Amino acid sequence: MKQLGILLSGRGSNFAAIAENISNGRIPARISIVISNRPEALGIEHARKLGLNSLVIPSKGKVREQHDAEVIAALREANVDLICLAGYMRLLSPAFIRAFPHRILNIHPSLLPAFPGLDAQKQAFEHGVKVSGCTVHFVDEFLDHGSIIVQRSVPVLDSDDDHTLAARILEQEHIAYTEAINLVLSGDFEISDRRVLRKSTLAGNRAL
Ligand code: GAR
Repeated sequence: MKQLGILLSGRGSNFAAIAENISNGRIPARISIVISNRPEALGIEHARKLGLNSLVIPSKGKVREQHDAEVIAALREANVDLICLAGYMRLLSPAFIRAFPHRILNIHPSLLPAFPGLDAQKQAFEHGVKVSGCTVHFVDEFLDHGSIIVQRSVPVLDSDDDHTLAARILEQEHIAYTEAINLVLSGDFEISDRRVLRKSTLAGNRAL
């Protein structure tokens, strides 16, 4: 059984959706560790309630490399196969990325490369886009930047404000993260330049 490590900083609804989809059999994996950099994160409380191996590694007052080294050690100890950033509001150091090549995923509440960074839903809303959505991507050293695995779009309605838009995007995030985890765990993908492609589709096309 593949093992997931979850990193979070806050509410933890993406983590909760992943945990739920594991328990209902939609993701063939188990969560071997949940780590928060913030002691007060609701997500870590939820992880404790679910009886999962939960750890707070505070980032406050530590240099990035030191904090990342502690997180890397905990993830290795927990034997994770795949790391899911679920509202983990920190940029990872190059050493972290190198420790787990193509094994770190992130979810972002916009159709990247539009609106990276904080408050993506508000940025999109205020820009006046008609369609937004969410992106699950491999993590590289740059903010919200790595190869895209799954995107789901969400229309922006005239009646929306940034909160109603964020709520509808969040519903799609919970679906998109499961799709992306399953694709990566299946190994049925290859990366060509920046493009994440399904091997089985490519093989099918070649056979035609
Ligand atoms: C989610 O909307 C996620 O996409 C976003 O933080 C929220 C966390 O919610 N992440 C980013 O903006 C990363 N750049 P959650 O704690 O309920 O999963």
